[in-house]
Amino acid sequence: MDNRIQNLKERREAIMAGGGEKRIQKQHDSGKYTARERIEKLLDPGTFIEIDAFVEHRCTEFDMANTSAPGEGVVTGYGQVDGRLIYVYAQDFTVIGGSLGEMHAAKICKVMDLALKMGAPCIGLNDSGGARIQEGVDALSGYGNIFYRNTISSGVIPQISVIMGPCAGGAVYSPALTDFIFMVDKTSNMFITGPQVIKTVTGEEVTAEALGGAMTHNSVSGVAHYVGENEDATLAAVRKLLSYLPSNNMEDAPLAPVSDNLNRLCDKLDSFMPDSPNKAYDMYEVIREIVDEGDFFEIQPHYARNMITCFARIGGRPVGLLANQPRALAGCLDINASDKASRFIMFCNSFNIPLVTLVDVPGFLPGVNQEQGGIIRHGAKMLYAYSNATVPKITMVLRKAYGGAYLAMCSKDLGADQVIAWPMAEIAVMGPDGAANIIFRKEIAAAEDQAAARAEKIAEYKEKFANPYRAAARGFVDRVIEPSRSRIEILHALEMLETKRETLPPKKHGNFPV
Ligand code: HXC
Repeated sequence: MDNRIQNLKERREAIMAGGGEKRIQKQHDSGKYTARERIEKLLDPGTFIEIDAFVEHRCTEFDMANTSAPGEGVVTGYGQVDGRLIYVYAQDFTVIGGSLGEMHAAKICKVMDLALKMGAPCIGLNDSGGARIQEGVDALSGYGNIFYRNTISSGVIPQISVIMGPCAGGAVYSPALTDFIFMVDKTSNMFITGPQVIKTVTGEEVTAEALGGAMTHNSVSGVAHYVGENEDATLAAVRKLLSYLPSNNMEDAPLAPVSDNLNRLCDKLDSFMPDSPNKAYDMYEVIREIVDEGDFFEIQPHYARNMITCFARIGGRPVGLLANQPRALAGCLDINASDKASRFIMFCNSFNIPLVTLVDVPGFLPGVNQEQGGIIRHGAKMLYAYSNATVPKITMVLRKAYGGAYLAMCSKDLGADQVIAWPMAEIAVMGPDGAANIIFRKEIAAAEDQAAARAEKIAEYKEKFANPYRAAARGFVDRVIEPSRSRIEILHALEMLETKRETLPPKKHGNFPV
């Protein structure tokens, strides 16, 4: 064999070996795959094409001149998921702890630039000790370049971060600028300052897992959007999410072959609603009835459970579905639910995914914590996000739709293209009990039997206002339907709205109420 070809093979083998057998074994022993194994699992088999394998660092400080870093600690390139082009980078923890230096960052920036130019999603598999300390400000600059590209690509191509090991310091801000953060349970964490620094500065003692583990960020902080029980499950979930998304903001979301009946009635829903409006039910049951094959992909299932956000298909068309969950906080809107919903709405709008909103909302959650925590500005995000969304917007009111929360759940006034209501819908300025207590206060107080008078007035208010027909009479509701027709009606609305074109006044950008 030609020596030069032999030389190429040897060089390539050295790069493929990453940080060497010992470090790879350590990686495997801690329940983690290597960067290359992860890429193989993420992409369709045999489709990965590597870029920049021969890139080397230029650092000479702190003995770095004698330190080799195969692949510069990050594997970059492109491949396919379900036959569609995807760009990917995977940090290699076996090489100097996957730490990010100047050239490591340059490799990442190159795939980000290609992804943006080609209009294809960019997936980052993060497993890194953070800024390569030996490289000082060059490493910081590397992060800055990545943050800048994350921001410029936002709303143009889907960006997904998968945290598969440590992600500390300012490094967390690249994932935070992307659309979705996936974390692996028990083996990943994210924090700006770790347990040791926190102990020194504030005296608080906390484990890395409690501070920034997968469940912390999926259930408490709301930083992450998905937790997988292991790396296989997490990467499979990324593939599933991608199946709902267009490759870029100029494309429509991909249609899937429809295997569910387009004329399917949801018979169960006609007898589904509890007799008492104060009784909870499980909104997931409604979602499963409506969407194709009962299948959906939930975003942030462990966070703000009073608001469900998920991707699904109806008649093969991807939709972003939002729903109040009466089982959690009675489905009220609070700070966290507003944040969760508005970000989801903005993502769907950026990427041409129609919005379907299922409403059963008694109001915004009352409380000092909520008010002092800024429910006004957080709740405003929902009004802003829905009003600003130009994708098809379909709203279905199942039961309660009271006051400001009714508006915030994509009412006609915020631009819903079709509002459909069940006959059990109660679209009113507030619940019958509260309303009767205010407007009939004097009559109730003067009555001999106040309880009976209150009950009578509540019933009177309910009869008059707590139904869908007042709103339908004003045109705020387009159709009142049998619940069993929910899937068919939404499907028809989606078909009708397929050619929707709506533009907003030209502006640099709005001032989103953060
Ligand atoms: C250089 C690093 C490194 C880093 C790890 N290594 N992090 N080298 N710069 N940031 C090296 C280690 O020296 C070690 O080298 C190898 O990677 C594996 O690390 P271990 O410590 O053996 O692994 P483990 O025990 O699993 O611990 C992982 C770890 C720990 C928790 C991530 O390595 C750690 O605390 N690293 C430092 C984290 C940090 O403070 N980073 C800077 C954050 S500040 P050998 O040769 O022994 O195998 C930051 C600013 C960014 O990132 C700002 C952006 C705006």
